[in-house]
Amino acid sequence: MEKKIGRGRAVGKIILMGEHAVVYGQPALAMPFPATKIETTIKEEVGDAIIDCYFYKGLLEKAPDNLSGIKTMIKEIFKYLNKELKDININIENTIPPERGMGSSAAVAVSITRAIYDYFNLPLREEDLSKFSSLSEKIVHGNPSGLDTATIIGEKALYYIKGQPFTIFKPNLQAYLIVADTGEKGDTREAVEDVGKIVKERPETGKRLIKDLGNLAREAKKLIENNDPVGFGHNMTQAHRRLDKLSVSNSNLNLLVDTAMKNGALGAKLTGGGRGGCIIVLTSSKEKARDISASLLEKGAKDTWIYNMEDINEE
Ligand code: MEV
Repeated sequence: MEKKIGRGRAVGKIILMGEHAVVYGQPALAMPFPATKIETTIKEEVGDAIIDCYFYKGLLEKAPDNLSGIKTMIKEIFKYLNKELKDININIENTIPPERGMGSSAAVAVSITRAIYDYFNLPLREEDLSKFSSLSEKIVHGNPSGLDTATIIGEKALYYIKGQPFTIFKPNLQAYLIVADTGEKGDTREAVEDVGKIVKERPETGKRLIKDLGNLAREAKKLIENNDPVGFGHNMTQAHRRLDKLSVSNSNLNLLVDTAMKNGALGAKLTGGGRGGCIIVLTSSKEKARDISASLLEKGAKDTWIYNMEDINEE
Protein backbone atom coordinates (compact mmCIF):
# COMPACT_ATOMS: atom_id res chain seq x y z
CA MET A 1 0.00 0.00 0.00
CA GLU A 2 1.23 3.48 -0.87
CA LYS A 3 1.94 5.85 2.00
CA LYS A 4 0.18 9.18 1.77
CA ILE A 5 3.08 11.20 3.03
CA GLY A 6 6.71 11.27 1.91
CA ARG A 7 9.67 13.03 3.47
CA GLY A 8 13.19 13.75 2.23
CA ARG A 9 15.95 15.87 3.68
CA ALA A 10 19.34 17.08 2.48
CA VAL A 11 22.06 19.18 4.10
CA GLY A 12 23.94 22.14 2.65
CA LYS A 13 27.55 22.01 1.49
CA ILE A 14 30.64 24.16 1.72
CA ILE A 15 33.42 24.09 -0.86
CA LEU A 16 36.69 24.45 1.03
CA MET A 17 38.89 24.71 -2.07
CA GLY A 18 38.74 24.23 -5.82
CA GLU A 19 35.43 25.78 -6.92
CA HIS A 20 35.40 26.69 -10.62
CA ALA A 21 38.77 24.96 -11.21
CA VAL A 22 36.91 21.67 -10.58
CA VAL A 23 34.91 22.29 -13.79
CA TYR A 24 38.30 22.05 -15.63
CA GLY A 25 39.37 18.75 -14.08
CA GLN A 26 41.25 20.16 -11.09
CA PRO A 27 40.62 18.72 -7.62
CA ALA A 28 38.24 20.30 -5.12
CA LEU A 29 37.59 19.79 -1.41
CA ALA A 30 34.07 20.04 -0.06
CA MET A 31 32.23 19.16 3.11
CA PRO A 32 28.60 18.81 4.15
CA PHE A 33 27.26 21.66 6.24
CA PRO A 34 24.56 20.26 8.51
CA ALA A 35 23.82 23.66 10.13
CA THR A 36 21.73 24.33 7.02
CA LYS A 37 19.25 21.93 5.45
CA ILE A 38 16.27 21.35 3.16
CA GLU A 39 13.22 19.32 4.17
CA THR A 40 10.67 18.26 1.58
CA THR A 41 7.27 16.85 2.55
CA ILE A 42 4.92 15.40 -0.03
CA LYS A 43 1.26 14.99 0.88
CA GLU A 44 -1.66 13.66 -1.07
CA GLU A 45 -3.87 16.49 -2.35
CA VAL A 46 -6.43 15.80 -5.05
CA GLY A 47 -5.86 17.77 -8.27
CA ASP A 48 -2.91 19.00 -10.32
CA ALA A 49 0.53 18.76 -8.68
CA ILE A 50 1.31 21.73 -6.42
CA ILE A 51 4.70 23.03 -5.34
CA ASP A 52 5.16 25.23 -2.30
CA CYS A 53 8.63 26.69 -1.72
CA TYR A 54 10.56 29.86 -0.93
CA PHE A 55 10.21 31.23 -4.49
CA TYR A 56 6.71 30.15 -5.46
CA LYS A 57 3.50 28.46 -4.37
CA GLY A 58 1.15 27.13 -7.04
CA LEU A 59 0.75 24.63 -9.85
CA LEU A 60 3.99 22.79 -10.64
CA GLU A 61 3.20 23.15 -14.34
CA LYS A 62 3.17 26.95 -14.04
CA ALA A 63 6.30 27.22 -11.86
CA PRO A 64 8.65 30.09 -12.83
CA ASP A 65 11.85 29.59 -14.83
CA ASN A 66 14.13 29.43 -11.79
CA LEU A 67 12.33 26.21 -10.83
CA SER A 68 12.66 24.64 -14.30
CA GLY A 69 15.42 22.29 -13.07
CA ILE A 70 13.32 20.68 -10.37
CA LYS A 71 10.17 20.76 -12.52
CA THR A 72 11.90 18.74 -15.26
CA MET A 73 13.45 16.44 -12.67
CA ILE A 74 10.09 15.73 -10.95
CA LYS A 75 8.49 14.91 -14.33
CA GLU A 76 11.36 12.56 -15.19
CA ILE A 77 11.13 10.75 -11.85
CA PHE A 78 7.38 10.21 -12.19
CA LYS A 79 7.85 8.95 -15.75
CA TYR A 80 10.62 6.60 -14.62
CA LEU A 81 8.45 5.29 -11.78
CA ASN A 82 5.47 4.96 -14.10
CA LYS A 83 3.30 7.17 -11.88
CA GLU A 84 0.84 9.85 -12.85
CA LEU A 85 2.03 13.32 -11.81
CA LYS A 86 -1.05 14.53 -9.92
CA ASP A 87 -2.73 14.51 -6.51
CA ILE A 88 0.36 15.69 -4.66
CA ASN A 89 1.49 18.77 -2.79
CA ILE A 90 5.28 19.16 -2.59
CA ASN A 91 6.32 21.43 0.29
CA ILE A 92 9.96 22.53 0.56
CA GLU A 93 11.29 24.11 3.75
CA ASN A 94 14.81 25.46 3.66
CA THR A 95 17.35 26.84 6.07
CA ILE A 96 19.98 26.89 3.30
CA PRO A 97 19.91 30.44 2.00
CA PRO A 98 19.17 30.09 -1.74
CA GLU A 99 21.71 31.12 -4.36
CA ARG A 100 24.51 31.72 -1.84
CA GLY A 101 26.98 29.01 -2.85
CA MET A 102 25.84 26.62 -0.13
CA GLY A 103 24.40 24.07 -2.49
CA SER A 104 20.74 24.92 -2.06
CA SER A 105 19.76 23.95 -5.63
CA ALA A 106 21.46 20.53 -5.40
CA ALA A 107 20.06 19.98 -1.88
CA VAL A 108 16.52 20.82 -3.03
CA ALA A 109 16.85 18.31 -5.88
CA VAL A 110 18.21 15.60 -3.54
CA SER A 111 15.55 16.18 -0.87
CA ILE A 112 12.68 16.14 -3.42
CA THR A 113 13.94 12.92 -5.00
CA ARG A 114 14.21 11.30 -1.56
CA ALA A 115 10.69 12.52 -0.66
CA ILE A 116 9.13 11.17 -3.88
CA TYR A 117 10.64 7.70 -3.32
CA ASP A 118 9.54 7.81 0.32
CA TYR A 119 6.02 8.84 -0.75
CA PHE A 120 5.73 5.75 -2.94
CA ASN A 121 7.58 3.68 -0.35
CA LEU A 122 10.23 2.62 -2.88
CA PRO A 123 13.92 1.95 -2.23
CA LEU A 124 16.14 4.65 -3.75
CA ARG A 125 19.47 3.59 -5.24
CA GLU A 126 22.29 6.11 -4.88
CA GLU A 127 22.90 6.06 -8.64
CA ASP A 128 19.28 7.07 -9.32
CA LEU A 129 19.45 9.82 -6.69
CA SER A 130 22.61 11.10 -8.35
CA LYS A 131 21.16 10.79 -11.88
CA PHE A 132 17.98 12.75 -11.08
CA SER A 133 19.58 15.49 -9.00
CA SER A 134 22.35 15.95 -11.59
CA LEU A 135 19.66 16.40 -14.26
CA SER A 136 18.20 19.31 -12.29
CA GLU A 137 21.66 20.80 -11.66
CA LYS A 138 22.47 20.69 -15.39
CA ILE A 139 19.41 22.78 -16.15
CA VAL A 140 20.21 25.25 -13.33
CA HIS A 141 23.97 25.57 -13.84
CA GLY A 142 24.67 24.51 -17.43
CA ASN A 143 27.92 22.64 -16.88
CA PRO A 144 28.09 21.45 -13.26
CA SER A 145 31.11 19.45 -12.14
CA GLY A 146 28.92 17.21 -9.94
CA LEU A 147 30.76 18.28 -6.77
CA ASP A 148 27.71 19.82 -5.04
CA THR A 149 25.50 16.80 -5.71
CA ALA A 150 28.18 14.29 -4.63
CA THR A 151 28.88 16.14 -1.35
CA ILE A 152 25.20 16.56 -0.50
CA ILE A 153 24.34 12.92 -1.27
CA GLY A 154 27.41 11.48 0.48
CA GLU A 155 27.34 13.79 3.54
CA LYS A 156 31.09 13.31 3.94
CA ALA A 157 34.12 15.54 3.32
CA LEU A 158 35.17 14.83 -0.26
CA TYR A 159 38.24 15.17 -2.42
CA TYR A 160 36.68 15.34 -5.84
CA ILE A 161 37.97 15.25 -9.40
CA LYS A 162 35.32 15.48 -12.11
CA GLY A 163 34.69 12.15 -13.81
CA GLN A 164 36.56 10.13 -11.16
CA PRO A 165 35.03 8.29 -8.22
CA PHE A 166 35.14 10.73 -5.33
CA THR A 167 37.43 10.09 -2.37
CA ILE A 168 36.25 10.59 1.19
CA PHE A 169 38.97 12.37 3.15
CA LYS A 170 39.34 12.76 6.90
CA PRO A 171 40.02 16.31 8.04
CA ASN A 172 42.23 16.54 11.11
CA LEU A 173 42.25 20.26 11.80
CA GLN A 174 42.14 22.03 15.13
CA ALA A 175 40.51 25.22 13.89
CA TYR A 176 37.17 26.97 13.52
CA LEU A 177 35.44 27.79 10.28
CA ILE A 178 33.13 30.78 9.91
CA VAL A 179 30.67 30.83 7.03
CA ALA A 180 29.47 34.39 6.41
CA ASP A 181 26.65 35.25 4.04
CA THR A 182 26.92 38.55 2.13
CA GLY A 183 23.12 38.44 1.75
CA GLU A 184 23.66 38.97 -1.95
CA LYS A 185 22.48 36.32 -4.41
CA GLY A 186 25.21 34.70 -6.46
CA ASP A 187 24.84 33.50 -10.02
CA THR A 188 26.79 30.27 -10.47
CA ARG A 189 25.74 29.77 -14.08
CA GLU A 190 26.88 33.26 -15.11
CA ALA A 191 30.13 32.98 -13.11
CA VAL A 192 30.95 29.59 -14.67
CA GLU A 193 30.28 31.03 -18.14
CA ASP A 194 32.45 34.09 -17.50
CA VAL A 195 35.36 31.96 -16.24
CA GLY A 196 34.91 30.02 -19.49
CA LYS A 197 35.25 33.27 -21.46
CA ILE A 198 38.50 34.18 -19.66
CA VAL A 199 39.93 30.70 -20.30
CA LYS A 200 38.98 31.01 -23.98
CA GLU A 201 39.94 34.63 -24.61
CA ARG A 202 43.06 34.80 -22.39
CA PRO A 203 44.09 31.13 -22.31
CA GLU A 204 47.54 31.68 -20.81
CA THR A 205 46.26 33.66 -17.80
CA GLY A 206 43.05 31.63 -17.43
CA LYS A 207 44.75 28.24 -17.53
CA ARG A 208 47.51 29.36 -15.16
CA LEU A 209 44.96 30.56 -12.59
CA ILE A 210 42.98 27.31 -12.88
CA LYS A 211 46.16 25.26 -12.46
CA ASP A 212 47.20 27.33 -9.42
CA LEU A 213 43.78 26.71 -7.86
CA GLY A 214 44.23 22.97 -8.45
CA ASN A 215 47.68 22.99 -6.82
CA LEU A 216 46.37 24.97 -3.84
CA ALA A 217 43.56 22.41 -3.39
CA ARG A 218 45.99 19.47 -3.64
CA GLU A 219 48.25 21.02 -1.01
CA ALA A 220 45.26 22.00 1.16
CA LYS A 221 44.17 18.36 1.43
CA LYS A 222 47.54 17.48 3.02
CA LEU A 223 47.49 20.57 5.27
CA ILE A 224 43.98 19.74 6.50
CA GLU A 225 44.86 16.07 7.10
CA ASN A 226 48.04 17.05 8.95
CA ASN A 227 46.54 19.67 11.26
CA ASP A 228 48.20 22.69 9.71
CA PRO A 229 45.60 25.48 10.08
CA VAL A 230 48.18 28.21 9.37
CA GLY A 231 49.18 26.57 6.08
CA PHE A 232 45.60 25.86 5.06
CA GLY A 233 44.54 29.43 5.95
CA HIS A 234 47.32 30.77 3.73
CA ASN A 235 46.14 28.58 0.83
CA MET A 236 42.57 29.78 1.28
CA THR A 237 43.54 33.43 0.89
CA GLN A 238 45.77 32.60 -2.09
CA ALA A 239 42.83 30.81 -3.72
CA HIS A 240 40.57 33.80 -3.11
CA ARG A 241 42.99 36.13 -4.90
CA ARG A 242 43.00 33.81 -7.92
CA LEU A 243 39.21 33.46 -7.94
CA ASP A 244 39.03 37.26 -7.87
CA LYS A 245 41.31 37.41 -10.94
CA LEU A 246 38.97 34.94 -12.64
CA SER A 247 36.14 37.50 -12.09
CA VAL A 248 34.32 35.28 -9.61
CA SER A 249 34.56 37.64 -6.64
CA ASN A 250 32.98 41.06 -6.18
CA SER A 251 33.31 44.06 -3.85
CA ASN A 252 31.10 42.62 -1.08
CA LEU A 253 33.00 39.33 -0.99
CA ASN A 254 36.36 41.15 -1.07
CA LEU A 255 35.26 43.48 1.74
CA LEU A 256 34.35 40.53 3.99
CA VAL A 257 37.56 38.63 3.13
CA ASP A 258 39.68 41.74 3.88
CA THR A 259 37.76 42.41 7.12
CA ALA A 260 38.39 38.84 8.30
CA MET A 261 42.10 39.07 7.46
CA LYS A 262 42.53 42.47 9.15
CA ASN A 263 40.96 41.01 12.29
CA GLY A 264 43.41 38.14 12.57
CA ALA A 265 41.91 35.30 10.51
CA LEU A 266 44.27 32.53 9.37
CA GLY A 267 42.70 32.70 5.92
CA ALA A 268 39.53 33.65 4.08
CA LYS A 269 37.99 33.07 0.66
CA LEU A 270 34.71 33.04 -1.20
CA THR A 271 33.00 29.66 -1.38
CA GLY A 272 30.93 28.16 -4.20
CA GLY A 273 29.84 29.92 -7.36
CA GLY A 274 30.75 33.43 -6.16
CA ARG A 275 29.48 36.83 -7.42
CA GLY A 276 27.69 37.12 -4.10
CA GLY A 277 26.89 34.32 -1.72
CA CYS A 278 29.20 33.34 1.11
CA ILE A 279 32.80 33.48 2.29
CA ILE A 280 34.56 31.03 4.59
CA VAL A 281 37.09 32.12 7.21
CA LEU A 282 39.53 30.00 9.23
CA THR A 283 40.43 30.93 12.81
CA SER A 284 42.59 29.37 15.48
CA SER A 285 40.01 29.52 18.31
CA LYS A 286 36.31 29.85 19.01
CA GLU A 287 36.84 33.26 20.67
CA LYS A 288 38.63 34.55 17.58
CA ALA A 289 35.82 33.15 15.42
CA ARG A 290 33.25 35.03 17.53
CA ASP A 291 35.23 38.31 17.29
CA ILE A 292 35.69 38.03 13.54
CA SER A 293 32.07 37.03 13.08
CA ALA A 294 30.99 40.22 14.91
CA SER A 295 33.26 42.34 12.63
CA LEU A 296 31.79 40.65 9.54
CA LEU A 297 28.22 41.35 10.71
CA GLU A 298 29.23 44.96 11.35
CA LYS A 299 30.53 45.23 7.77
CA GLY A 300 27.23 44.03 6.33
CA ALA A 301 27.24 40.20 6.48
CA LYS A 302 23.63 39.03 6.83
CA ASP A 303 24.35 35.87 8.76
CA THR A 304 27.29 33.87 10.08
CA TRP A 305 27.76 30.28 11.25
CA ILE A 306 30.70 29.05 13.35
CA TYR A 307 31.82 25.46 12.93
CA ASN A 308 34.42 23.49 14.87
CA MET A 309 36.40 21.59 12.21
CA GLU A 310 37.09 18.84 14.77
CA ASP A 311 33.36 17.96 14.73
CA ILE A 312 33.46 16.97 11.09
CA ASN A 313 34.27 13.31 11.64
CA GLU A 314 31.52 12.95 14.22
CA GLU A 315 28.64 14.00 11.95
C1 MEV B 1 29.36 25.66 -7.37
O1 MEV B 1 28.97 25.33 -6.04
C2 MEV B 1 30.72 25.11 -7.64
C3 MEV B 1 31.30 25.44 -9.01
O2 MEV B 1 32.62 24.90 -9.02
C4 MEV B 1 30.51 24.87 -10.15
C5 MEV B 1 30.57 23.34 -10.20
O3 MEV B 1 31.41 22.71 -9.57
O4 MEV B 1 29.71 22.80 -10.91
C6 MEV B 1 31.42 26.94 -9.22
